[in-house]
Amino acid sequence: MTDTVSFGYEDVSPEEKTRRVGGVFASVASKYDVMNDAMSGGLHRVWKDVFVRRVKPRAGEAILDMAGGTGDIAFRMEKSGAAITVADINPAMLEVGIERAAKRGIDGLVWSEANAETLQWPDRFFDAYTIAFGIRNVTDIPKALREAHRVLKRGGRFFCLEFSTTLWPGFGDVYDAYSHHVVPKVGQAIAGDAESYRYLIESIRRFPSMERFKEMIGEAGFVQTKVEPMLGGLVAIHSGWKI
Ligand SMILES: C[S@@+](CC[C@H](N)C(=O)[O-])C[C@H]1O[C@@H](n2cnc3c(N)ncnc32)[C@H](O)[C@@H]1O
Repeated sequence: MTDTVSFGYEDVSPEEKTRRVGGVFASVASKYDVMNDAMSGGLHRVWKDVFVRRVKPRAGEAILDMAGGTGDIAFRMEKSGAAITVADINPAMLEVGIERAAKRGIDGLVWSEANAETLQWPDRFFDAYTIAFGIRNVTDIPKALREAHRVLKRGGRFFCLEFSTTLWPGFGDVYDAYSHHVVPKVGQAIAGDAESYRYLIESIRRFPSMERFKEMIGEAGFVQTKVEPMLGGLVAIHSGWKI
């Protein structure tokens, strides 16, 4: 029997998931940023601002922004003077990020192709590890969390921003209807790709609950694990420390 993992509402082999997720982000890369604004009404910017405030990057620190995509989190952290490495498995997303950085005159970032499950950096290398809207796309999440723990220094901090499930009654139903019916249509209209956006929504539904994900972070070795829900848990910031 082969183990399967979820790709949206389908169960597929781990290799197939990695391949299909690669296809999704290669397909949406050029429209990724405009779609984020369209789908969230610009709210993703606020969530990312709050996230970076929690991370509190400081000059002299080395920070890994995993699944960093087109650079939104890195651009916010770079202002602090910390040394930021943006890592992503998908070269198409990184290329868009490199172009955006050039347009903004940001030249201090390191861009690196990497799979969150098998990092190329040595043990205890970074002061902080961030991952925003990335972890649910990773095939083997426990493995990626263990890798995050490995590359962090003692005293290093882990921060994850991810969609979750809102616990606000009523709001969940509206959001469900919006995401299942509106998002794929907006994806079709703007990016010409309803399927990729259908996957992105389905992957949110299949992601573990806030409490379960907090436990998973603890199982990877982190301590003082915390979750901060936003909009009742529609989006959540999870964090933990390596000691
Ligand atoms: C929704 S985007 C988030 C990008 C960016 N962090 C942001 O908040 O705008 C998810 C990113 O995760 C990346 N990704 C998916 N699986 C990955 C893996 N195993 N390792 C590294 N990156 C991965 C995708 O290529 C994509 O760029």
